Amino acid sequence: MSAGKKVGVLISGRGSNLAALIAGADGYEIVLVISNVAGAGGLTRATEAGIATAVIPHNGKTREAFDAELDAALRAARVEIVCLAGFMRILSDGFARAWEGKLLNIHPSLLPDFKGTRVHERVLEAGVGYSGASVHFVVPELDAGPVIAQEKVPVHPGDTPESLAARVLEAEHRLYPAALRAVAAGDAKLENGLTVFTDR
Ligand code: GRF
Repeated sequence: MSAGKKVGVLISGRGSNLAALIAGADGYEIVLVISNVAGAGGLTRATEAGIATAVIPHNGKTREAFDAELDAALRAARVEIVCLAGFMRILSDGFARAWEGKLLNIHPSLLPDFKGTRVHERVLEAGVGYSGASVHFVVPELDAGPVIAQEKVPVHPGDTPESLAARVLEAEHRLYPAALRAVAAGDAKLENGLTVFTDR
């Protein structure tokens, strides 16, 4: 583990991807975890790892006002890269633009297939043989940003949304720290709407 780019992670829930990002920290340092949900399991994981946490509820606020609070907290902590990890709010266009190239998300499908919610249910309904996980740069359009890394995961006969989700989640935990290390090192960058990779 080594310090490097300062990372903020936004969560809403249990935070298993947050735990993978904490465990895989090399060339980046998670300095702040923000949850819009008080009592989210990920907050405990962060505290146990000695990482500062904040709860910023979204209730009763406009999207812009909520995002302005997120932005202020991230900038006060001198965050350079923001990772969405099970963060169940749609961010405003302004926030996405302000953090362009520095804002990452993980999605439990092989994008551009199966954007949005109820992913594993829809994968099973479609009868496809493979699913997977994708890490991408966030752009204003939901789940539409340029992909940084993907891992394919087989769909097994008899899979339920839960069994498929568990298999995809294992891939997510490998993929997200590796993708964040590449962005933190400057080896993967967003340029003119595309992800550009530098070989070292
Ligand atoms: C993950 O499957 C992620 O891809 C999706 O929400 C889930 C979050 O899980 N966006 P966790 O909170 O990281 O355990």
